[in-house]
Amino acid sequence: MKILLTGGAGYIGTHTAVQFVAAGHSVVLLDSLVNSRPEVVARVERIVGHSLAYYTGDCADPKLLDQIFTDHDIDVVVHFAGLKAVGESVEQPLRYYRNNLDCALTLCEVMEARGVRRLVFSSSASVYGTPEQVPIPETASLHAANPYGATKLFVERILADLAVANPAWHIVALRYFNPIGAHPSGLIGEDPQGIPNNLFPYIAQVAAGRRDKLRVFGDDYPTPDGTGVRDYLHVMDLADGHVAAVEHIADQAGWRGYNLGTGQGVSVLESVRTFEQATGSHVPYEVVPRRPGDIAECYADPTRAREELGWVARRTIAEACADAWRWQRENPNGYAAD
Ligand code: NAD
Ligand code: UFG
Repeated sequence: MKILLTGGAGYIGTHTAVQFVAAGHSVVLLDSLVNSRPEVVARVERIVGHSLAYYTGDCADPKLLDQIFTDHDIDVVVHFAGLKAVGESVEQPLRYYRNNLDCALTLCEVMEARGVRRLVFSSSASVYGTPEQVPIPETASLHAANPYGATKLFVERILADLAVANPAWHIVALRYFNPIGAHPSGLIGEDPQGIPNNLFPYIAQVAAGRRDKLRVFGDDYPTPDGTGVRDYLHVMDLADGHVAAVEHIADQAGWRGYNLGTGQGVSVLESVRTFEQATGSHVPYEVVPRRPGDIAECYADPTRAREELGWVARRTIAEACADAWRWQRENPNGYAAD
């Protein structure tokens, strides 16, 4: 299949592009570079061993999308493009709603006009807000706790309505839990700008000496060691989940949501210990007050993805730590040095 990846120069998009090519598909990448860099595409090309079709531009630009569908016979679109920082979404809600909703609406309009009706959407565990139960099944109630999560919820709703209106659509929303790690080559990985918001990039920068210590946000949660519990999955497993989803929707009409997670909850302190053991590095930390808006526990019930997509997360957190550490050591300033 020929697959268009919007946001294809981002963290998850690059790893997924590699796995699509490994599975025998061809890819076309589109990215505005609002949270990526042009050098990234050359890194992906080094891994796959050939050049790739790549467009710089806005996914909410209907003319550009139309041009891409004219240039390429696209079978499926995987829609990664979007802004993703929760805290920033609280400060700049209009920017988040405008970007994330415009991208999805414009993409669907152009796809409808061009008769391309197979879509995989990057959703998020944030659609569950503060979960009522863990592990979280897809049938749990949905409510967003911040504007970022609301954009995911709204787009899911739009896609579900679209699938009802026209049964020719085949749509899957993948609700990612916490992707970590990097491609084992050390050529691509997560490249947060400024101070990382997320736990694992922060740990890696502390281990590398770029930051003096990790701040553990609260040790008084109702969890085994008091620190927050999440479902961390290797980004390569997450990428494989997209390959499974794209192959699944080829003959599966309608709309369906799937959790992509391991089903295992891991605490902040366990994460630190696993990283230290997997990499032989030291990660000093101090416990500070809770981060506003954080929840105690969030991990997936991944049964539906296993049963219907035939997908399970296979790689360990230790492997993800080793791969993240290789990426960090070989690219101490991310892609900036290219
Ligand atoms: P990322 O920021 O690395 O990738 C997103 C890419 O989209 C970036 O390269 C950015 O430049 C691009 N982009 C943003 N707006 C665009 C626009 N209007 N037009 C074209 N390109 C645009 O983030 P990621 O971690 O790779 O996330 C990919 C998707 O997965 C996002 O939709 C994100 O919300 C979702 N997601 C991520 C996580 C996570 O923890 N990383 C968790 C759940 C869901
Ligand atoms: N944490 C720290 N110190 C840090 C960073 C994080 O202790 O410097 C803790 C958090 O308090 C939390 C855990 O590590 O307990 C994980 O935090 P992350 O920020 O890595 O991940 P979150 O689960 O809070 O958020 C992520 C994405 C969101 C998304 C959410 C649900 O960043 O975009 O998962 O999918 F909405």
